[in-house]
Amino acid sequence: MRKVDLKIFVEIHDRSELSPARRKLVEEAEEATHGSYSPYSHFCVGAAVQLQDGTVVRGSNQENAAFPSGLCAERTAAFSAAVGHPGKCMEAIAIVARPESAGAYVPVSPCGACRQVLLEYEYKQGTPIQVLMSGPGGQIHLVPSVAALLPVGFTADQMKG
Ligand code: THU
Repeated sequence: MRKVDLKIFVEIHDRSELSPARRKLVEEAEEATHGSYSPYSHFCVGAAVQLQDGTVVRGSNQENAAFPSGLCAERTAAFSAAVGHPGKCMEAIAIVARPESAGAYVPVSPCGACRQVLLEYEYKQGTPIQVLMSGPGGQIHLVPSVAALLPVGFTADQMKG
């Protein structure tokens, strides 16, 4: 038996340390929280995907009385980008969250299903999708790729045997 130690490196940035483009992407995600439909959790999540040509596509969580029928912000953004802009690579996704009643953003990180969906697009395009997440105290947590966020993830390679 041998053990393999897999590490994730998360960059913790003050907002002022981000490039203007990345700062703008986080602001787009914040704007997107206003489109959240979250009458059950009262937890507003916004996401913004930056495409290779600079286009930004927003998403927000959309809940449903039949709970599992709802969808997270990350997937609404990624699917919307894929449908509206086929063939364009995704360079980065910013994700932020705030409780409905509060003005401040709180830490968030994509659920397993969203990581899997983002991994598929990263695998398909062959280039990394940077992930920026709201962290505590207004900081931004940055991971360089989806694969880094989902180590030992499942991709189509494995179906080739
Ligand atoms: N949610 C997201 O949209 N993204 C995340 O990364 C975490 C969770 C949503 C799903 C649901 O509408 C609400 O937040 C509470 O789980």
